[in-house]
Amino acid sequence: KIVSVKGREVLDSRGRPTVECELEWSDGNGERSGTVRAMVPSGKSTGGAEAKELRDGDPARYGGMGCLKAAANISGDLGKALIGMNPADQRAIDDKLLSMDTSPGKDKALIGANAVLALSMACCRAGAEALGVPLCRHINGLARTAVGGGEVKMCLPVPCLNVINGGVHAGNALAFQEFFLIPSGASSFAEAMRLGAETYAKLKKVIEAKYGKRDTGVGDEGGFAPNISSPEEGMSLLMEAIEGAGHGGKIELGSDPAASEFYSKEKGAYDLGFKCEEPNVKTAQEMVALYQRICGTFPMALLEDPFDEEDFESHAELTKVVGESVEIVGDDLYCTNVGRVNKGLEAKATNAMLLKVNQIGTVSESLDAWALCRKSGWGVFVSHRSGETEDSFIADLVVGIGAGHIKSGAPCRSERLSKYNQLLRIEEEVKGLPYAGKLFRTPWKL
Ligand code: PGA
Ligand code: ZN
Repeated sequence: KIVSVKGREVLDSRGRPTVECELEWSDGNGERSGTVRAMVPSGKSTGGAEAKELRDGDPARYGGMGCLKAAANISGDLGKALIGMNPADQRAIDDKLLSMDTSPGKDKALIGANAVLALSMACCRAGAEALGVPLCRHINGLARTAVGGGEVKMCLPVPCLNVINGGVHAGNALAFQEFFLIPSGASSFAEAMRLGAETYAKLKKVIEAKYGKRDTGVGDEGGFAPNISSPEEGMSLLMEAIEGAGHGGKIELGSDPAASEFYSKEKGAYDLGFKCEEPNVKTAQEMVALYQRICGTFPMALLEDPFDEEDFESHAELTKVVGESVEIVGDDLYCTNVGRVNKGLEAKATNAMLLKVNQIGTVSESLDAWALCRKSGWGVFVSHRSGETEDSFIADLVVGIGAGHIKSGAPCRSERLSKYNQLLRIEEEVKGLPYAGKLFRTPWKL
């Protein structure tokens, strides 16, 4: 049973407030009990359809970004409603929280998606503790229920390491937000991290030699932020680093342009120069051609949010031409929302969904979005946010649902490593789990 719940304002990796939930559980006869915590991340290039964080709006504190109201909601009405409930009954917990969402758009704006998620994740962790199983196994049980019974194979994911940062996550000229190393040719998760980290170290040397020491500073997700402007230049740097580190053939590439951030509604086009003085405007058709060129030149395995979040048609066009060999992932396009994923399935917009728990706000709703993708044969790519904490919940999540790949930034900055390090622990402690490797898009075939 849940015994007590407390909310607290803490800081995220950008030094901005977020919320933590501290939850105490007990087995009822005083033999077993425990206290767990969960912390909530926060995005910068957010999708319009995301569940809404509650921020204080008091300009005298943290420029209005304070989370005292959200923390009070956790300690108050929301948390109190969960006292006495079984933390292992995730669906009942989340249904209870959802029933208290009085926001007109049902986007959790009034109670705070941040407050709701902190509670939902803390209950999940307490549920695992109460059952005496690792968190990933508890989540695996919830996942099996979410797909209506049957087996859901757990596996270690391919870490997609965002080693060059651009877009709104860095102060350089680069429009594309993320450039991934995807070590799908490794034989284990631990080896994948070694290949990735060695390549990351080599990349620093490559950037230093080409652009100087000043360009080796890092962006919000720990990737380097050299002052380059073309995506091809970024991809070439990655290739040089991979070859230089001696890992050619084992690491594929990917990118999240996060195109909504440089889409101009007035122009109906994309401005790759959105952070520069000179505009560099491209139509959706020209963007399709650019992506095709990149996919033809580099060993690309994944592209996320290549177009504006309301442009299902252009997504569908690109999926049609490169979707066989490249996973096309919808992030802002879907916002981990079943309704939007259904729209994407109908439009054949992509062949995969990004899963961010704070985009939708509860563990159960996240599992529902995952289950829909799984039934439809789509890939699911589990993701951190650009504003993160040391909470490693998504590491257990990606293993529990057997999603096959995760992005948690570069192998740099501890809020990024907390997820990768938890995966190293899981690989060691939970015996017999396969590494997704080349099957990261279809891990059920492992
Ligand atoms: P965000 O970026 O957390 O700032 O939204 C991550 C992403 O776009 O995938
Ligand atoms: Zn994204």
